[in-house]
Amino acid sequence: MKTAFITGITGQDGSYLAELLLSKGYEVHGLVRRSSSLNTSRIQHLVTDPEYQSGALTLHYGDLSDSEQISHIIRTAAPDEVYNLGAQSHVRVSFDTPEYTGNTTGLGTTRLLEAIRRNHPVSRFYQASSSELYGSTPPPQNEETCFHPRSPYACAKLYAYWMTRNYRDGYQMFACNGVLFNHESPRRGETFVTRKITRGIARILAGKDEYLSLGNLDARRDWGFSPEYVECMWRILQQPKPDDFVIGTGEAHSVREFLTESFSYAGLDIGKNMRTDQKYFRPTEVDALIADGRKAADVLGWKSSISFQDLVRIMVDADMRAEGLEAIGEGDRILEKKMPCRWWKGD
Ligand code: NAP
Ligand code: GDD
Repeated sequence: MKTAFITGITGQDGSYLAELLLSKGYEVHGLVRRSSSLNTSRIQHLVTDPEYQSGALTLHYGDLSDSEQISHIIRTAAPDEVYNLGAQSHVRVSFDTPEYTGNTTGLGTTRLLEAIRRNHPVSRFYQASSSELYGSTPPPQNEETCFHPRSPYACAKLYAYWMTRNYRDGYQMFACNGVLFNHESPRRGETFVTRKITRGIARILAGKDEYLSLGNLDARRDWGFSPEYVECMWRILQQPKPDDFVIGTGEAHSVREFLTESFSYAGLDIGKNMRTDQKYFRPTEVDALIADGRKAADVLGWKSSISFQDLVRIMVDADMRAEGLEAIGEGDRILEKKMPCRWWKGD
């Protein structure tokens, strides 16, 4: 049985990755930070599932700013694989909290790499790098494209990206970057734009809100489906040698297109139910991200199967149900057809 350690296990990707690894028979350790209110809702179903009560899932309190606890976990769990998904991951928030973002998203990676180097250097390490690294460099973007970060978040991720490569080169560690483009799901945080829109739709239809407030509608993103992306993380660590990979669908849409597609699916009127608000605009914006994922296709044998339209339907339906409304239903049919062997239990 292999052992994995996941930072950010309570987040969108961490929760799906935990399920994927548990379904593969891994013993999974996860880092959970203490909070005054419950922050384990995405993995609650795993915590209470009797299948995982036999020691397959162990949660550890800790924080990416706490090197002692991170070292202790690496020393005692001696994981075969470490997935560093923990981060202050919100780009807009990073402009308000640049130092904190640098500490957790940037230095947190160094703390983890150093804990591995000193305690268990054979661990394979996955760093959650981001398409935000490309910033203002025009698309399409691949492993050779130069970086031009446009936010404190992206600067922190750039430092973490290079530390990962330096530990690979300097200490021969199996350390890899997955440069992932935006990926979403019903478990996406409520303040990222896709989920804000799909949840906003359900709240309007439930009579709780009258309209949704958004910022820049012109930005274009390459949006994929998170469960498919965590499979790539795992595949990256199963390769014969450590390397970096770009992961994305290769197709981009604007925020406006996401809004139009989801509003029309739910039968809402943008003119009536949407407003723009300056507070959601950013000091510097990333205009367009589109992955050139040929390396992932060739080496990892990976290609996305959930389209933009599918994603919209899956997310709107999930949020309708979460509000106690009847789902329109296309989302379920898409999952049954395209992902018949679903390994995740939630949603
Ligand atoms: P997410 O939902 O925001 O999850 C972030 C996780 O990090 C949560 O578990 C959070 O804990 C944890 N965390 C935050 N600060 C921490 C700290 N100081 N110490 C320990 N844990 C901390 O993010 P995601 O969408 O799953 O993304 C996973 C990773 O991939 C992140 O590193 C993100 O930057 C990166 N990424 C995401 C995308 C994307 O489109 N989703 C694309 C490229 C890269 P709480 O639950 O307590 O908040
Ligand atoms: N969050 C948010 N809220 N974004 C808005 C809004 C709004 O009300 N209105 C417009 N947008 C625009 C943003 O300005 C941005 O151009 C786009 O929608 C996407 O914003 P987010 O969903 O917050 O994602 P992101 O692209 O900034 O960052 C996400 O993807 C990165 C990978 O490219 C995050 O998951 C990062 O952690 C990740 O690295």
